[in-house]
Amino acid sequence: MPAAKVRKAVFPAAGLGTRFLPATKAQPKEMLPLVDKPIIQYGVEEAVHSGIRNIIMVTGRGKSAIEDHFDVSFELENLLESRHKKDLLKIVRQVSDLIDVSYIRQKEALGLGHAVLRSKELVGPEPFAVILADDVIDAETPCVRQLLDIYEFFSAPVLAVMEVPKEAISAYGCIDAEPVAHNGSKDKVYRIRDLVEKPKAADAPSNLAIIGRYILTPDIFESIAAVEPGSGGEIQLTDSLRLQLRSRPIYAFKFEGKRYDAGDKLGFLKATVEFALLRHDLGGPFREYLKSLKL
Ligand code: UTP
Repeated sequence: MPAAKVRKAVFPAAGLGTRFLPATKAQPKEMLPLVDKPIIQYGVEEAVHSGIRNIIMVTGRGKSAIEDHFDVSFELENLLESRHKKDLLKIVRQVSDLIDVSYIRQKEALGLGHAVLRSKELVGPEPFAVILADDVIDAETPCVRQLLDIYEFFSAPVLAVMEVPKEAISAYGCIDAEPVAHNGSKDKVYRIRDLVEKPKAADAPSNLAIIGRYILTPDIFESIAAVEPGSGGEIQLTDSLRLQLRSRPIYAFKFEGKRYDAGDKLGFLKATVEFALLRHDLGGPFREYLKSLKL
């Protein structure tokens, strides 16, 4: 039987963003601009380019900024229209025209697993993607599309992973897994044996870190509801996947592309510089400017 189609993407955006204070005191980090678009728009565009238009945002503080961004702004559009600013009008309309978006609130930041559980009613009994927008990924084929291909082949949940230096693994969820040959490659797809959230480097089963892209099946909600708070006192998605692993296989995929942790100040700066350099309108003069700096 073919795998059920993934039509929905959940965006947990209710974290406290403490690594980016004070910028995140009154707005979610997902609204910080990377060049000229809020971080979360990159994630939404990734979903759309992967064939997913149905977007579910789990929001906390600063909900109105995210809602306003993806809503129609009549005042702004009328103004741009009256000033014949067609290009800007197109830019402003582009995202909201492409998606159907709904919102659910996570009143307290009780963890990523808890945030995903809040989306249960809106997701319903079907598979779905989870996108952590502060992981920004530059890839030829959108990362979610890459995961969907694996999901469709194995009919099972799939997590995006990447290799990180051993000393960095304690900042991530980590998998213990065996490689599975797929499409002529032996080191891209893994069948997961176990998962652990933020292990000490010495205890980590591998250097494969889970990053913020998942294809999940609806039975994950039962597992989330059943787990106790874990690392940091939060309801962890990694712990819930560990429980789900008892009843079904779960796969990991070493995606192709470059990931930036835009929820971290240094990661955000790196992403800003590299995304600006990639831009047709800004790349040239920005490169010249960087070269002129006596570094
Ligand atoms: P992070 O681990 O980056 O945590 O969350 P954070 O609280 O957002 O940021 P820091 O570490 O304090 O700086 C990973 C993702 O999970 C979401 C976040 O919004 C982010 O997209 N999240 C986390 C929630 O939606 N709710 C939570 O309770 C926790």
